[in-house]
Amino acid sequence: MQRAALSLLKSGAKHVLLFGGSRSGKTTILVIVIIFRAARYAGSRHLICRLRTKDARSSVLHETLIPWLDKIVGKARYKLVAHDNYIRLWNGSEVWIGGLGDKEQVDKILGHEYNTIYFNEVSQISYAAVNVAYSRLAMNIPGCRNLFLYDCNPASPMHWAYKVFIRKIEARTDTPLVKPELYASMVLNPADNAENLASDYIEDILDPMPEKQRARFRDGLWVKADGVVYDRFEEEMILDPEEMPERFDFVTAGQDFGLNITNVKVGWIAGAVYVFADYGAYNMPTRTFNEELAARGWYRNGDGSANIFPTFCDPAGGERIQEITGGVKANNSVDSGIDYIAALMEKKRFFVCSTCTGVLQEIADYARDEANEIVKVNDHYMDAMRYAIFSQAQYGVVCA
Ligand SMILES: Nc1ncnc2c1ncn2[C@@H]1O[C@H](COP(=O)(O)OP(=O)(O)OP(=O)(O)O)[C@@H](O)[C@H]1O
Ligand SMILES: [Mg+2]
Repeated sequence: MQRAALSLLKSGAKHVLLFGGSRSGKTTILVIVIIFRAARYAGSRHLICRLRTKDARSSVLHETLIPWLDKIVGKARYKLVAHDNYIRLWNGSEVWIGGLGDKEQVDKILGHEYNTIYFNEVSQISYAAVNVAYSRLAMNIPGCRNLFLYDCNPASPMHWAYKVFIRKIEARTDTPLVKPELYASMVLNPADNAENLASDYIEDILDPMPEKQRARFRDGLWVKADGVVYDRFEEEMILDPEEMPERFDFVTAGQDFGLNITNVKVGWIAGAVYVFADYGAYNMPTRTFNEELAARGWYRNGDGSANIFPTFCDPAGGERIQEITGGVKANNSVDSGIDYIAALMEKKRFFVCSTCTGVLQEIADYARDEANEIVKVNDHYMDAMRYAIFSQAQYGVVCA
């Protein structure tokens, strides 16, 4: 099976995703590919990134990269430059490791050009972050074809990786990919890797899992998660632009700050909420982000007249709140906000325009863990949406 995955890399595809159940050998094979590329092309540079630096260090660097480097090139022929988080090989090639979700890492790792960028566990990485990293695959080493590699346990079918690799559509616009032949994917499941797993792993750990978890982690299927927060959200609440109301009683927006900066705009009609626009960027200063919103007509009506409305901002944003047009502090009661939105869904008073691809990608995977805590991954549009809706419900500021 891993051999078949290797042949994908020779297929001419520029983007290669291995997805599937847990412990199926996805990370191992992609790390081995990087080691071979680094060894073969002297002076080349490769990046392995995941959401969090500490996870990249433990599960990729220490559990996979170092043991396989020892086996393939030998301890004497590489050095871990721990402070800078990269490995230098005897031939001058480098393998960098980092977290796209950690601000202090991002500028460091995205300050270089690479021949391979491997996104590990993309179910956790935003599409905006991946798109920013795309521009860094620009190193030129004669004979070396630059590649993007990806792996993940499957998420919901709304996830960007499912859209791009399986449905072959652009994740932000839902339009067909211009060059679908550049995207290849393959499923690897634990059964394919049985020879390298403890004999009881599948039978004792995966088989008894609850149905949806088992579908994902044993069978590699893209299904809705367990513990989904908005489990009342249904396909029929997604409206095409022509089905959306032409006018709203008033409009509010929500703004989340951070590396993944997001804004969600909602319209209100007699207590019903229509999510009608969203926008997000990665590693962008707040001021620039607000300028981009303005340039996209965020603060204008269809006829071009100015439309200023309250934008409820993450209260932890401090001075950044003033940099957002109409910015005021949001109510950040997470549980009450979620309950309010879930109740709107139950009463069929919640709708999302199909163009809001950021919201739609997160809503089906936004979940709680076993301890009933919200999983703080892929929640950027969810936070912005909650600020937009719940702050309005609480403060009741009406803006014509
Ligand atoms: N070719 C191989 N030879 C020996 N052991 C292997 C090989 N491929 C994978 N393994 C072992 O199988 C186990 C699972 O591999 P790996 O971590 O690559 O899987 P994964 O699909 O990335 O898992 P996860 O879904 O947990 O990220 C590891 O213990 C790894 O060392
Ligand atoms: Mg893995």
